[in-house]
Amino acid sequence: MSLRDIQDEILRLKKENDICILAHSYQAHEILEVADFVGDSYALSVKARGVENNTLLMCGVRFMAETCKILSPEKRVILSHPDAGCAMADMMDRELIEQLKPKYKDYTIVAYVNTTAALKTICDVCVTSSSAVKIVNNIENKNILFIPDCNLGAYVAAKCPDKNIKLLSGGCPIHAAVNERDVDIARRKHPGAKVLVHPECTPEVVEKADFTGSTSEIIDYARRSSDSEFIIGTELSIAEHLKYEFPDKKFYPLSVGLVCKNMKLTTLMDVYDCVRGVGGEEIILDEKTITDAKRCIDEMIRLNHD
Ligand code: 13P
Ligand code: SF4
Repeated sequence: MSLRDIQDEILRLKKENDICILAHSYQAHEILEVADFVGDSYALSVKARGVENNTLLMCGVRFMAETCKILSPEKRVILSHPDAGCAMADMMDRELIEQLKPKYKDYTIVAYVNTTAALKTICDVCVTSSSAVKIVNNIENKNILFIPDCNLGAYVAAKCPDKNIKLLSGGCPIHAAVNERDVDIARRKHPGAKVLVHPECTPEVVEKADFTGSTSEIIDYARRSSDSEFIIGTELSIAEHLKYEFPDKKFYPLSVGLVCKNMKLTTLMDVYDCVRGVGGEEIILDEKTITDAKRCIDEMIRLNHD
């Protein structure tokens, strides 16, 4: 079967089996082409609430599929590849934060959405990279314990100077590995190109960038900008998608090391297997986990306003 044949079969089977395909923008182009909805983690979370199909297929990583299940517990939710975890989410568990809670009694615990469902059950509010600043500003409490990403946390702290934000040491090993030298080298190679980075990058990299935003915000910036060259400081797939979408503009990766192996695990064949009912992993969460974790995701949506 050619790639086009597989895609056609996926489109036919998802309709026949009442499946909605949600895909994170880090997925491969051929997967985005068969998805019903593509977006960043915030947009995917909101979308997961309103879908009418019986089954949601999340092409992304585990915490994204768990978020779908928490928001749509009555639906079957399938993660596109059983091994697609997130290195950052796996870094901090519920037990650790439970132990720290007494020390942070007067703090609101803000959890990046890149956390396990179990950890979300004991946090107060969730945030995503595109919503974190707004949400933290809208929290009444001045004291915030921000977990697990200390880079996103530092970015939020700089934008919310009235808040007392405590950080723990966690983060995305892929984004955190990019350094200031990478920015200098890329700028020397492509003078005049705008540097667009994800807030999971270190504060030093963010400081040197022209724009910092979520995956969707980076795409939107490049779409709207009258500039024609961009250095992209997030997973390599974004530069690839941008090249495809805007052939008249030029996109360069900030570092060739920006590869999320977990996001790359899902192939078009995995999607095909999922829609014909033989692949992926169904997300099963107990009722209490769903109820408790839902509180902080609902808070995220409630507090994401101007
Ligand atoms: P977005 O919220 O920008 O989609 O980021 C998710 C993520 O895991 C980035 O590494
Ligand atoms: Fe997780 Fe980093 Fe991959 Fe994003 S890029 S899914 S934070 S490991």
